[in-house]
Amino acid sequence: MSANGEVKPAARPLKVDGVDVELGGVAILRGVTFDVRPGEVFGIVGPNGAGKTTILNVIDGIVRPSAGTVRYGDVDLCRVRPHNMRDHGIGRSLQSTHYFRDLTAAELVALGELPNSVAGALRFTGHRKRRKAQAAARHRGMEVLEQFGLERYASRPLNELSSAVQKLLDIARAVVAGGELLLLDEPTSGVSGQERGAIGEALLQLRTLGRTIVLIDHDPGFVTGNCDRLMAMNFGEVLDVGLPDDVMGSDVVKRSYLGEPVDSDTGESAAPGP
Ligand SMILES: Nc1ncnc2c1ncn2[C@@H]1O[C@H](COP(=O)(O)OP(=O)(O)OP(=O)(O)O)[C@@H](O)[C@H]1O
Ligand SMILES: [Mg+2]
Repeated sequence: MSANGEVKPAARPLKVDGVDVELGGVAILRGVTFDVRPGEVFGIVGPNGAGKTTILNVIDGIVRPSAGTVRYGDVDLCRVRPHNMRDHGIGRSLQSTHYFRDLTAAELVALGELPNSVAGALRFTGHRKRRKAQAAARHRGMEVLEQFGLERYASRPLNELSSAVQKLLDIARAVVAGGELLLLDEPTSGVSGQERGAIGEALLQLRTLGRTIVLIDHDPGFVTGNCDRLMAMNFGEVLDVGLPDDVMGSDVVKRSYLGEPVDSDTGESAAPGP
């Protein structure tokens, strides 16, 4: 990121290769391999518990894999601490904004600039250097709020705002935090069909700015409409990677994820038509 907060278009691929994760002795991810091209919107779909969030946790260093590698350009992300991911242009939105419900919109978005110290971001006394950093964070936060057309919510607490606005604010926080590679965990969960359009527009805006986006979502219409490619997974394994319609229509995805019976002779869905 440059001194004035501008982010250059993403130019680096993300490469996840052979990642295994074990938590509490249980295999959560097995041999997960995929790559995300610079400037691409890459969707991850799969049923609850498939391991989607765990993949984002591996990419941004919260969970360390027991095998495999994660590289962003020439950076080995398995050696980067979560709070330093922003130095590599990586920002993350969360599956739930529940923990932030008492913050105002401006405070939430400014947190993206100060990931090392949540308390520090909210404290308004202290060292001069810290106050300067806080002022810069507020300024950068307001810039991004304006970029998303959200500045009217700046002083409103999150718990007064709709799910769609909360999700947009958390995406804005991720943009402030990193901005070049955005990891978005279910940006439309709890958001009504009508309001999903606003989230799709925000993605379009970020893509136009050249960001790379990894997006988890459960809504087949939203992912096929907004992603360049999809990865489907189940039980911690990759089922398929490819163009959205191909992945959603593939036999293995229909059988394993959508639960549709597939005619073994024709490969066609054997589910009754509408
Ligand atoms: N810290 C942990 N310790 C043990 N098991 C965990 C831990 N975190 C996640 N899991 C398990 O790992 C599996 C994958 O979880 P993950 O949250 O990645 O799934 P998901 O695909 O994001 O699901 P959802 O769609 O419900 O968000 C689940 O069975 C979950 O219970
Ligand atoms: Mg999840």
